[in-house]
Amino acid sequence: MIKRIKGVKDILPEDTPRWQFIEQVARRWANLYGFAEIRIPIFEVTTLFARSIGSTTDIVEKEMYTFPDRDGTSLTLRPEGTAGTVRAFIEHNRGADPFPQKYFYIGPMFRHERPQAGRLRQFHQFGVEYFGTQDAKADVDVISLLWRFLSDLALPDLTLEINSLGNKEDRAAYIPILVSFLKSRQEKLCENCRRRIETNPLRVLDCKVPECRAATEDAPQLAAYLSPEAKDHFDQVLSGLATLGITSRLNHRLVRGLDYYCLTAFEITSSHLGAQNAVGAGGRYDGLVELLGGTPTPAVGFAAGLERIAMMLPEQKLPATKASVYVASFGSEGGSAGVRLLDALRQVGVPAQSDYRATTLKAHLRQADRAHCLFAVLLGDDEARSGSAVVRNMNTKSQETVLLSDLPRYFFALLQGL
Ligand code: HAM
Repeated sequence: MIKRIKGVKDILPEDTPRWQFIEQVARRWANLYGFAEIRIPIFEVTTLFARSIGSTTDIVEKEMYTFPDRDGTSLTLRPEGTAGTVRAFIEHNRGADPFPQKYFYIGPMFRHERPQAGRLRQFHQFGVEYFGTQDAKADVDVISLLWRFLSDLALPDLTLEINSLGNKEDRAAYIPILVSFLKSRQEKLCENCRRRIETNPLRVLDCKVPECRAATEDAPQLAAYLSPEAKDHFDQVLSGLATLGITSRLNHRLVRGLDYYCLTAFEITSSHLGAQNAVGAGGRYDGLVELLGGTPTPAVGFAAGLERIAMMLPEQKLPATKASVYVASFGSEGGSAGVRLLDALRQVGVPAQSDYRATTLKAHLRQADRAHCLFAVLLGDDEARSGSAVVRNMNTKSQETVLLSDLPRYFFALLQGL
């Protein structure tokens, strides 16, 4: 038997209403904030991700699904959506169009991580990218969109954590100081962090290993090395969030696992999620468009993990399934009248179904129950000849006779009123 790949999930029909609902709410909030959908490819040339996410990040070092194309070109399944969106932005010369430009995407991403609850190898993100302004109000817009979206879904115990990563120069001044601090604590760090001192020292700060956290408790903080402009930008973001009544918590350890960030970095976490507690995260990446060959364009965005949202979505938030009609037809005349009725109902937008294997009333009603149909139409040869059928309410068991020709209008009005 062929099985699915580890860390990859099937979303079965009983689960898809949950997913469709989350996607619908995501689209609604994206539209409310003026973001338009972009659909970018699932795979790109590997250098796009290596260059934008950073060659010493976990994603690029060990998590990408990379394979040679038939002509030998190295391709990679997208581990995230920002790099592809920026590539499309540059390739279609969108920088020549009026700013700001606001894109959103929903789709699968791929990372070869160790699978666990809320961490998959194929997962889905809803993300937004806002191009063309350095104004802190854009950061606030993006963060508040994520916050409003997650709050609308009534996800429990959300916390917004925020930090400033400063400008490139700020980090250049800070990193040697951090490195010399980390070297002085080297023996206390895990093997991975010891290696990161040389390759990606900022990441040591958000290592989850308790010994590493203890060893870096009094590490020098980037906040002390922010330029006046970076500090001012951060203050504006914080006060903008406060104006909207969105509470944020400063987290000096929040450095993000992708290298393209500058200034604002944020994460929304939930205590309901266990170890993989980030529901959504993002930040500003003013240097990325230029790094990938475009004209310098400031940008800010986020991505939220749909699996984690689906895990936390309260059942009562899901809309009730649409009422459906079951057509129970018998005999040769009843049978063909039934097929015509099914067609007529569907044509006016009334969901209608039948089980063509059922030959007895009992079997039909059992199927109607199983399919959670609210109404059944009982239609035998006699009814077909007389031009009317019996409508049965499956909940109350009450029945009434209705003209066959009236049934589409009858059900349309009835379901409309539910
Ligand atoms: P990220 O923090 O790598 O950022 O991912 C964003 C979210 O995707 C996470 O908070 C999490 O909910 C979800 N996620 C990530 N990896 C997995 C996984 N293996 N399984 C399940 N869910 C996962 C980015 O991807 C950036 N591109 C966000 C961004 C957009 N920054 C600016 N614009």
